[in-house]
Amino acid sequence: MATFTVRPASGRDCADILRLIKELARYEEMENRVKLTEKDLLEDGFGERPFYHCLLAEVPAEYATCEGHTIVGYAMYFYTYDAWIGKILYLEDFYVMEKFRGLGIGSEILKKISQTAVQDHCSSMHFVVADWNYRSINFYKKLGATDLSKKEGWSLFEIPKKHLVKMANEE
Ligand code: ACO
Repeated sequence: MATFTVRPASGRDCADILRLIKELARYEEMENRVKLTEKDLLEDGFGERPFYHCLLAEVPAEYATCEGHTIVGYAMYFYTYDAWIGKILYLEDFYVMEKFRGLGIGSEILKKISQTAVQDHCSSMHFVVADWNYRSINFYKKLGATDLSKKEGWSLFEIPKKHLVKMANEE
């Protein structure tokens, strides 16, 4: 496929973003963990204080899926900060619909994200990948990625909201 475009998402794209978020979650066998709604995505990404950015891959209408979808891939990212190395671009989600994989769409999305990261003087790009997702791990490794949990021994932790609320309300 020679003709696909990669463009920033707008508020009108939230239904497609949510559809693709759910598809990636299904690929990761965790679809029931997706709690966000289109309204959340609209408010969080396109309000006064955007919490995320999103790039979309779009194909011409003649290549639309049987359901009529022309938006076939996405990447969601935001910025984070490391006290040692400064600005980091965090890649939260990266997905291309199965029928459209292997055509260079994912590589083009990552190229555009890399350009953004370089323009914004980020020191690196971080992301989390499931340890069974060896196809993606190999893909990232070919692009120069290293596994920090193995190399440096970091573990990902979470404090759930109920504990945050408890701490927040402690006298
Ligand atoms: N199926 C097919 N190819 C895959 C897959 C997969 N599940 N995962 C990684 N790839 C690699 C292929 O090895 C291929 O490399 P090669 O050409 O050297 O053999 C490469 O992707 C293809 O390059 P592109 O055509 O530029 O990329 P594509 O458009 O297929 O998008 C992506 C890559 C997004 C990883 C896509 O394959 C996909 O959606 N995979 C399933 C979901 C996934 O694993 N997403 C990443 C999760 S990690 C995260 O979100 C931070």
